[in-house]
Amino acid sequence: MANQSTLETGAQENLQGLQELSGGQKLAIHYFTVAMVLFMAQLLFGLLAGLQFIMPGFLYNVLDFNVNRMVHINAMIVWMLYGFIGSVYWFLEDESGVPIVGLPLGRLAFWVLTVAVTVVILVFLLVQIGSGTSSSIWFINEGREYIEAPRWADIGIVAVMLVFLYNVAATFAKGKWSGIAGVLTLDLIALAGLYLAGMFFVTNISVDQYWWWWVIHLWVEATWEVLVGCIMAWSLMTLLGVRRKVVQTWLYIEVALMFGSGILGLGHHYFWIGTPEYWLTIGGFFSALEPIPLVAMVVHSIYDAGVHRFKNSNHPALAWIIAHAFGNFLGAGVWGFMHTLPQINLYTHGTQWTASHGHLAFFGAYATINIAFFYLAVQRVRGNCWMGADLPGNGWKWKWSMLLLNLGVMGMTVALLIAGYEQSFIERAVEGSTWMGYFAAQNHPWFVQAMHWRMVFGVMTMLGGILLFWDLLTIGKGETRKAPAIGAQ
Ligand code: HEM
Ligand code: HEM
Ligand SMILES: [Fe+2]
Repeated sequence: MANQSTLETGAQENLQGLQELSGGQKLAIHYFTVAMVLFMAQLLFGLLAGLQFIMPGFLYNVLDFNVNRMVHINAMIVWMLYGFIGSVYWFLEDESGVPIVGLPLGRLAFWVLTVAVTVVILVFLLVQIGSGTSSSIWFINEGREYIEAPRWADIGIVAVMLVFLYNVAATFAKGKWSGIAGVLTLDLIALAGLYLAGMFFVTNISVDQYWWWWVIHLWVEATWEVLVGCIMAWSLMTLLGVRRKVVQTWLYIEVALMFGSGILGLGHHYFWIGTPEYWLTIGGFFSALEPIPLVAMVVHSIYDAGVHRFKNSNHPALAWIIAHAFGNFLGAGVWGFMHTLPQINLYTHGTQWTASHGHLAFFGAYATINIAFFYLAVQRVRGNCWMGADLPGNGWKWKWSMLLLNLGVMGMTVALLIAGYEQSFIERAVEGSTWMGYFAAQNHPWFVQAMHWRMVFGVMTMLGGILLFWDLLTIGKGETRKAPAIGAQ
């Protein structure tokens, strides 16, 4: 009985909390929900692809490795974009001081995008093989890693991004502009514009790759980094009450450094694809500078949290923001720097070293900040309840899920790094990049063992993900203490 009444109070609080949300925040909850579901799908397909490394016959001709891998990384890009869009809708009204302009259009865009994503994933799973023709580019698969969505969906995605941009720019224009608002709007224009570089087809593979990297590299190492800079600036004000002047000054410095190094840092993908040799120098030099803004971000967030004595009423959100600062620095900064000089990349290019960096960077930089935002949102949904110290059960769910997710991804990263080191050594250095060398490296015990360890830590990551999902559905239910207001600005 007692349980029953707690559940009922929980449901009532939920309802009340939801009603108190602004229009933008309600829309954000929609985005966050789909993001979490796609995150789970990402992990599931990652596990299937990982299993196929050690059991090559597993699901062969039913759900092939290339399909699992594609769904794994596409689901990742899409859930992170959902998370970012949701985060911006979440704070848009607070930041601008007015209701969102054109919100019904924004709601429609959400449904259009969600239907498109569902259809694209179903087609990926149902039409796994076939010839590549101009109609397959339009309707099935565009064939560019990470952005395989067919062209009809591309056009839909661009339309949805334009609606989003309109919501953001028109709302700030009607209300008040701030430093964060200005940086955010310009960044979103760049983010939407760059997507166009991945939408056309060029028969020369070098030229095709050249443009494809404009989306991939310039997104994750320039526009996405700036976007999370804005999101983090806003959340530090809300969570800790950091003064606006402080976060905006940091934001400007970080953005200048990020664009200063990240734009020409693009050259680290132009070493071996048939582009002119000057990219070796440009790419090596500028990408080596890329970790600097990431160090600035660590200093910034730890400094702010320290000044405010880590006092806040949402411990999971703050913990994930700190995980973001370190994860971004480690995954992108340190793991990126390791293989970014052409002298080293000659040996490591396209090995599991790359996958090691890819996992830690995407998780550390972007999964973390999204999860932090999910917790910020869930707190308001549950009636702005207390989520600081002394949670019922000592908050074991968020703590364990955080531990399992971080240990799991770190464990996979180290396993892949060992495999990548072995490949660079045996396949490249010893065997001189021959076909024989490739197989010698793939069959070496260090490689095989690393693939098994990746699965162990992959399962750990999945368990962390499930626990996170459960925690987001339950944390704060039945909590009667309110979070005290924080004097931001
Ligand atoms: C959050 C930011 C970042 C993310 C999410 C990220 C993610 C990735 C991913 C997924 C790849 C593999 C791409 C592929 O499939 O071919 C990659 C490649 C690469 N990244 Fe990053 N990265 C980030 C930042 C950085 C930074 C700051 C550096 C350098 C300091 C860097 C250096 C590299 C290099 C050199 C490669 C090419 C690896 C190869 O030759 O195979 N990355 N990155
Ligand atoms: C359940 C745990 C996971 C498993 C078992 C797993 C497994 C895999 C596998 C087998 C691949 C293909 C690698 C290859 O082609 O050699 C892959 C690629 C990738 N995964 Fe995961 N993954 C997991 C979780 C994650 C997470 C949490 C993230 C980031 C948030 C992530 C990001 C990526 C990226 C960016 C790539 C492409 C890397 C590249 O192009 O080099 N994965 N994953
Ligand atoms: Fe890059």
